[in-house]
Order: sequence, then structure tokens, then C-alpha cells
Amino acid sequence: MKHSELILVLDFGSQYTQLIARRVRELGVYSEIHPFNISPDKIRDLEPDGIILSGGPSSVYEQGAPKSSPQVLELGIPVLGICYGLQVIAEQLGGKVDPFARREFGKATLRVDKNDGLLEGLDGSTQVWMSHGDSLSQMPMGFEPIAHTDNAPICAIRNVAKKIFGVQFHPEVAHTPQGKIILSNFLFRICGLKGDWTPEHFIQKSIEEIRTKVGSSKVLCALSGGVDSSVLAVLLHQAIGDQLHCIHINNGLMRKGESEQVVETFRQNYRFELTYVDATDIFLARLEGVTDPEKKRRIIGNTFIEVFETEAKKITGAGGAFEYLAQGTLYPDVIESTSFKGPSVTIKTHHNVGGLPEKMNFKLLEPFRELFKDEVREVGRKLGLPEPFIERHPFPGPGLAVRILGDITKEKLDLLRNADHIFIDEIKRFGLYNDIWQAFVALLPVRSVGVMGDGRTYEYTVALRAVTSVDGMTADWARVPSDFLATVSNRITNELRGINRVVYDISSKPPATIEWE
Ligand code: XMP
Repeated sequence: MKHSELILVLDFGSQYTQLIARRVRELGVYSEIHPFNISPDKIRDLEPDGIILSGGPSSVYEQGAPKSSPQVLELGIPVLGICYGLQVIAEQLGGKVDPFARREFGKATLRVDKNDGLLEGLDGSTQVWMSHGDSLSQMPMGFEPIAHTDNAPICAIRNVAKKIFGVQFHPEVAHTPQGKIILSNFLFRICGLKGDWTPEHFIQKSIEEIRTKVGSSKVLCALSGGVDSSVLAVLLHQAIGDQLHCIHINNGLMRKGESEQVVETFRQNYRFELTYVDATDIFLARLEGVTDPEKKRRIIGNTFIEVFETEAKKITGAGGAFEYLAQGTLYPDVIESTSFKGPSVTIKTHHNVGGLPEKMNFKLLEPFRELFKDEVREVGRKLGLPEPFIERHPFPGPGLAVRILGDITKEKLDLLRNADHIFIDEIKRFGLYNDIWQAFVALLPVRSVGVMGDGRTYEYTVALRAVTSVDGMTADWARVPSDFLATVSNRITNELRGINRVVYDISSKPPATIEWE
């Protein structure tokens, strides 16, 4: 999509790079993340209105430290360097970075010396978040200092003529309460932008684009009922109407009543073709006796492709071939493959419909390639999707299979479904659902002794998992009230036969992961 306003964020490997891009978008300006070593020619092609250099874990003096081309600072495009980004600017323009300076991690008080331009509107003293080992000991040529802290005499700098700015702290994080003012000064005062990136704008432009791209072809879309695929289906339907055909595959690993609810909601509210496929038996047969988490994931991924392929052929037979497959690929997936970070170890094989196109000769349609998940939610809201669909917790592709530790049986699935239903029901009743990023029950392969009435029991243990998170990459266990936990535990052990012990998982990610497998 061609954007009338664009900010480039060059990634030097900071854990906050995505956050910078999101903050810029929250201010109404479209932003894209590119690797730090993007060529000046490519930058010219993209015609950005401003460039932000992210932070990063390196020291500019280290051998092989990431540096962008010095030409980036000569393109006449406004630049803001953040933390390591500031140090790159300083180093390239004749300043000095002191690797022996006092390290600063955490909150600091910024004292504003020049409160016009970048720092306009800030209090004279304001809290900022620091996270750096090196700091600036000598100004680059043509620059002036505009703020300091007790530890860092040069904490923010500018060269107004060249429109180059730098801050040692992180304006993008919540611990810098006035950080948004700084970013908006950069966007609106320095880059002269207006801020036209809104969900409505995205919807209008992507509908036009989808229509142009698809023409009169037919589009197939796998609708799981999760936020991304639901919003995708509705957007596509607005764009191309009857040319859209959705398939919902029930793999037998969905939550209680989930498949039925998804199909019913969409059939009642939307007029696109929706084929429901109950593939429970195939999936459960293939999973029989399998206990290894990665093997479960592989089997489910492959079976999904197979079922999808078979069903697509059946539908095709009925009414002409599908040229496009629509996928809810999001921006973080796109950045992951192009960003600074090298290949990381596979912790879990995540499965979505990603394997389909090569095997099936579809062209791909991925309208959300530029969006973060919270932006997809906003788009969904503007498209009028029911709120429960928008606010849904994420649910993994392999579903309950990775929440039953050990082998999977129909009985265990039913038990888990009922326990999970009670947990989520009480989370909603206690008003906790929207404060929790994701919550579920895991069925453990552990039986323990209990007592019920006068009798001995020997039954399963379940673990309740509720986490807070921003993007699922890191997570903390949710501090839920103890009377809520007591209610859930009572209900599960009283209402369900087969579970006599309930535990609450108090592990964060890392070192644990959100799912148990
Ligand atoms: P973990 O367990 O890796 O999960 O901390 C992070 C987030 O990803 C979800 N998840 C998946 N999503 N396919 C998906 O679409 C998968 O195979 C998959 N595995 C985990 C998980 O529910 C959490 O939100």
C-alpha cells in the first residue's frame, strides 16, 4: 500500500523497536521497520518523511557494531536517534561516545534546557527511562545539547539546520510519561506531518487495493474464528462480496461450543459462503497415542493442510477455481523475517496456514501484512464485528492438543473443555477478561489422591493459566484475586468428575512459555 506519510524505523536490535513503530502509528502516522543497514537508495525509493534510529544492545565502538550508512544523515530527511541510535549519530558526525561512562538503567530525571522544537511542551523536569552503558562525552559537530540528567550531561541533542535529533533515553516506553509528546513533536513539528493513518483510512485503501488485485477472481479464506481471520473475512467480504468463500475446519481441538458458535455467528450476520468441515475424527485418529509436543504440532499442521486441500478441491469442483488464498499474516511475522536479529532456535513450531500456498498453487492475499494485532482489532471494530470476537484471547492453532499434556483422548478433551469453560466463565463474571491477555486450563498427566464425601478419589490435576502480556513474546502471570481462584477451584472440583486438584500457574515467560507444550 502506498502511504502519503511514512516514518522509517531503522532497527539496531532493540527490544523496543516494534514499540517505537507502534507509538508512531498510535499518533496517526504510518511507520515501517527496516534493518539498520538499508541502503540509502532504498530509503530514497521509499520517500519517508522522517527516520528514527532505534536503540540496540551493542556499543558503537565494538567490532562489527551495527551502523547505518553515513549517507542516511545527509538525505535531508529529519532523523531522530534513540539511545544507541543517538550514539550512531554522534559517532558518525564527529562526537564522542564514552564506553566507560556510568551505566544507567531505569528511571532518571531529565532536565530540559531548550524547550522548543523536539522538547516543546515538556515539564522542566520530567521522568525518563534510561537503558544504556555508553554515553555521549563530546557533542558532534554543529549540534547543541537540549537536555541533561545528573548522570548524563549530554542527554538530548539537536542540529536544527540538518533536522537531526537524538535522545539518550527511551521516549517510546511507558516509563517515560511525556515520551509521547517528544515523538509527536518529531512527527508534527519537525517532519511536518498531519497524521492520516487511521483504521478508516486503512479500510478504505485496502478495499480499493483488494478489488484491484483480485479483479473477478475467487478468494478462499480459512476462518478459524480468531481475531485475525474473523476481521479478514469481514474485510474481504466488504471488498469482493460473493467472490469470497470461507472454510471453517473443526479439528476436534477447539474449546467448548467454539466451532458451532463461530459458524452460527458468521452465518447469521454475514452473507458470504461458509463451509463447515468437521474433521475431528481424522485429527484425533492421527494424534492417538502421541505424547511429544512437537510431534503433535507437526501432525496437526500437516493434517490441516491435507483437509484444507481436500475441501478446497470439493468447493472448486462446485464453482470454478480459486485463484487467491487469504491469510491473516501480521506485521510482526513480516518483520521477523527481515529484521536485525539472526535466526533464533525453534522453541515451538507455530502452525497456521502458512504451508498452504506453495503446495496448492494459490496466489496470496495478505491485507494485514502491515498491521499490528491491536490495529487489526481497531479495524474489526470499525467494520462492526461483534465485540466478543474483537476482544478474544489468542488461541493457538494446535488448540487443546497442546493443553493436554501427554496423550490425547476424547474423554480428556471433554474434561478439559468443561474445566476451561468454567474458568473463562468466572473470569468474565469477575470482570477480569479484558485485563488478562490470555487464560486457559491445562490438563496435567498427573493423578493424585483426594477425598470426596467419605470416599477416596484418584483423579486428574488441572493447572489454571492466566497471563498479562503485550505481544505474547514475554508474559507475566496475572495477579488475580484469591476469592476468584477459590470460586473456580470449587466449581471445577464440584461440577466435574475426574478432577480433584486445581493449581494456579505462577510462572512468567521467560523462563516458562505461555502454553504448556
Ligand atoms: P508460547 O506458548 O510460545 O505462546 O509462549 C505465545 C503465544 O502464541 C500462541 N501459540 C500459537 N499460536 N499457532 C498459533 O497460532 C501455534 O502453533 C501456537 N503456539 C502457541 C500462544 O497461545 C500464545 O498466545
